[in-house]
Amino acid sequence: MDSGKQITFPLLMSVGTAVIGSLQFGYNTGVINAPQKIIENFINETYRERYQEPISESQLTAIWAISVSIFSVGGIFGSFSVGFFVNRLGRRNSMLIANILAFIAAALMGFSKMASSWEMLIIGRFVVGLYSGLSTGFVPMYVGEVSPTGLRGALGTLHQLGIVVGILIAQIFGLEMIMGNAEYWPLLLSFLFIPAVIQSILLPLCPESPRFLLINKNEENKAKTILKKLRGATDVSSDMQEMKEESRQMMREKKVTILELFRSPLYRQPIIIAITLQLSQQLSGINAVFYYSTRIFEKAKVPQPVYATIGAGVVNTAFTVVSLFVVERAGRRTLHLLGLMGMAVSAVLMTIALALLEQLYWMSYVSIVAIFAFVAFFEMGPGPIPWFIVAELFSQGPRPSAIAVAGFSNWTSNFIVGLGFPYVEQVCGPYVFVIFTVLLLFFFIFTYFKVPETRGRTFDDIAAGFRQTAGGGAEKHSPEELNSLGADSQL
Ligand code: GLC
Repeated sequence: MDSGKQITFPLLMSVGTAVIGSLQFGYNTGVINAPQKIIENFINETYRERYQEPISESQLTAIWAISVSIFSVGGIFGSFSVGFFVNRLGRRNSMLIANILAFIAAALMGFSKMASSWEMLIIGRFVVGLYSGLSTGFVPMYVGEVSPTGLRGALGTLHQLGIVVGILIAQIFGLEMIMGNAEYWPLLLSFLFIPAVIQSILLPLCPESPRFLLINKNEENKAKTILKKLRGATDVSSDMQEMKEESRQMMREKKVTILELFRSPLYRQPIIIAITLQLSQQLSGINAVFYYSTRIFEKAKVPQPVYATIGAGVVNTAFTVVSLFVVERAGRRTLHLLGLMGMAVSAVLMTIALALLEQLYWMSYVSIVAIFAFVAFFEMGPGPIPWFIVAELFSQGPRPSAIAVAGFSNWTSNFIVGLGFPYVEQVCGPYVFVIFTVLLLFFFIFTYFKVPETRGRTFDDIAAGFRQTAGGGAEKHSPEELNSLGADSQL
């Protein structure tokens, strides 16, 4: 077996520690769903104590909506600031320092009840959003840079696995009998403290990204020593060679700012692909399910909707694991296409189920099947792939800016769906999923025509593919042809 597929303990430890950041993101995505009523009661009581009168319905809704969605606003700012940190502090130290935000957020949310302050809750949600936004940039970048080429997809999928496990833990902890009750909800919200402690202890034991050391810091010996540990091999010359090639390329490119990403014909195509893939993830409607599934199930007259929601979390996790094992075999493009089409079909099924609910009672079971299938297909491709493919589409120079732009697009569209879905649903009723079907079909067509396969190709090779296209060879290179530029050598 070549070192391109070798899983070593230092590699697993580095990736495992990094994805604690993904777990935090997932946990805070899912945590606010179940205890809604209880926290609303707290806001209500606090208001009455302060102003000696009950809070109005609309004020309560507004405070709640802000508490939920300010998380994504934090995410937008966090993801956009990624480039500022990673080139100055390095990848690992950036992840380490971000934990300060996790501690602050845990304290703010954990003590909000004691201090009778919903403002602390809102600020805490914003701060943990900042942390999560940074994580969605730091983690895929670090994982992509420490992984050997042949495992980049599988290890990159661990970011998504961290997210979905985080969501599932939050769903379970949020059950009334665990922490989703009047007494323990502050603990539920500040639980992120524990993963933050664990990550802060483990990160100093993990190596810095050798790509960062060699290409950004010119510390060749250090990079080499770390690579040997990560690869479990004494001969890392081919990795070093590849990084040096990327480094030479970067000297020519200089530092790439966000504006230049859009201006230069070299980067225009990959940045459009990166942004569209993020949009395909969020505008697929996945978070309509993860933020509102309990309500969707209630409407579909499912008995025990909370357990159906947890069921969705379990399916979500199971299929991320499936994706982990097939992504290096089936390739990114194929899985993304399969996932989008499967989601579109499931969305149609969901629409039929909701529309016929009044006439046929068993349609509520069809709606469960439809949602589970929707989630399963999401995790085959549109869930994990957009996160790690951005690090693959760009070389070291433009990578931080590209990841910032992609993260920003992801979080902004996440925010729009989260805030807009309840209103659109009021207008469209059972036909709300038709909108997602149309969007999914659009993203399918885009992916089919524009997204190249990146499996098994070095960063430099992928960048070279785009350089060629930008240099006028666009007509000559279909995505399949770009794929063959070096894809099969690893298999
Ligand atoms: C992806 C999305 C996130 C979503 C999750 C569901 O990571 O980025 O918004 O909640 O998948 O599994």
